[in-house]
Amino acid sequence: MSKYYTTEEAALYLGVSSARIRQYILEERLQTDKSGRDHLIEESVLSDFAMFGRKKVGRPFLEQGNADIVTAEPERASASNRFINIDQLDEEGIQVINGDTRDIIKQLPDDTFRCVVTSPPYWGVRDYGVENQIGAEPDLQDYIKTLVEIFSEVRRVLKSDGTFWLNIGNTYTSGGRKWRQEDSKNRGRAMSYRPPTPDGLKKKDLIGVAWMVAMACQLDGWYLRNDIIWHKPNCQPESVKDRLTVAHEYLFMFSKSEQYYFNQEAIKESYTNGNGFKNKRTVWSINTEPCAEAHFAVFPKNLVRPCILAGSEENDLILDPFYGAGTVGIVSQELNRKCVGIEINPDYVDISGRRNARVQGALMLQES
Ligand SMILES: C[S@@+](CC[C@H](N)C(=O)[O-])C[C@H]1O[C@@H](n2cnc3c(N)ncnc32)[C@H](O)[C@@H]1O
Repeated sequence: MSKYYTTEEAALYLGVSSARIRQYILEERLQTDKSGRDHLIEESVLSDFAMFGRKKVGRPFLEQGNADIVTAEPERASASNRFINIDQLDEEGIQVINGDTRDIIKQLPDDTFRCVVTSPPYWGVRDYGVENQIGAEPDLQDYIKTLVEIFSEVRRVLKSDGTFWLNIGNTYTSGGRKWRQEDSKNRGRAMSYRPPTPDGLKKKDLIGVAWMVAMACQLDGWYLRNDIIWHKPNCQPESVKDRLTVAHEYLFMFSKSEQYYFNQEAIKESYTNGNGFKNKRTVWSINTEPCAEAHFAVFPKNLVRPCILAGSEENDLILDPFYGAGTVGIVSQELNRKCVGIEINPDYVDISGRRNARVQGALMLQES
C-alpha cells in the first residue's frame, strides 16, 4: 500500500518549509491528491522530486526508512484560522509563514502569544535580497514608523501578561556613499544601496536608531522595562582610526501591561564568588554564533534563551515576526515552547526548516 504524506510531513521529508511545499504544489511541480483541507503526496512522488525535481538537488534530511512520522491516513487538522493551526503546532511545535510581516501579522488573532523575541533588519545595514524588505527605506523616519506599526500589531497579538524582547543596533550615516563592497570575511556586508544621510545629521554621525525605535514604541503604548546591553566579546573588527570599535547592541524588554509574567528565578545568575544567585544584570556578554547557511547575522541561542525562559512557560506560544534562519524556533523547541515565525525571504524559510528539522531530529533521538 502506498504511503501518503501531508504537506507538513513532506516538508520534513524534503528538509524544506511547509510554505515551500505549498509553493511547489501551486507551481504543479509536486503532484498531489486532495483529501479534505490538505494535500496528500505519495511517497514515490516525493522521492522522485528529491532526486530529480529540484533545480538544486539536495539530500532529503530524513532517510526514507527513518520517516516514521508518515501516516497512511493522516488526521486532518482543524485550522482555527487561516494561518495558525494550533493542532499542527501541538504536533510539531513550529509554524513558519512566508510573507511580508506587515500583511501577515494583521491576520493573526488577538491575545495569542506569551512572548515575542525578534531582531528586525537594521536601517541601511544589510541587503536581504528581496522586494519589500524592511531596513531599505531611504527615509529613516519611514523605517521607524514601519517598525512601530508592526510592533503595535505585536502588542495586539501578545497576551495581556506577555513580554516583547527587541534586539536592535545603532548605525552610522553612510557619508554620501551609495553602495558597499562585499567583505571577503562577511558576504552579508555587500550593499547595492545606502540610504542618504537623514536631515539634520552629518557625515560620520552615529544614528541612535535603536533608541529612536525604543522611544517611539514607548510613546505608542508599550511599557519599556529594560535596556539590556548585548556585549559581543568576539565582535567584528573595524578599520576605523578615529573612534572605538562597536562591540554591543541593544535588547529592549517591553511589556503590554503594568503587571506581566516574568520568571526571575529561571534566569538568575551566580555571584562571582559562587555564593548563591542574584537577579540577572542588564549587561550580557555573549559571543555571536556563525550560521554556515545564512549570510546574515543570526541570533546566538544564548541571547534568546533568557528571554524565552523569563517570558514564558512550557507549551506557551512564542512569535518571531522577522524569523530569518529560525533561531527563535530552535530555542523554543529546546525549551518545550511552540513558535510561529514570519519571514519574507523563501530561501531563509528553507534554511530555518532545515535547522529546525535537525534540532527536532536530535530531540527525537534523545527521547527514544
Ligand atoms: C536580522 S534578520 C533576523 C535573523 C534571525 N533573528 C535569526 O536568528 O536568524 C532579519 C530578517 O527579517 C527579514 N525581513 C526583512 N523584511 C521583512 C518583511 N517585510 N517581512 C518579514 N521578514 C522580513 C529578513 O529577510 C531577515 O531574515
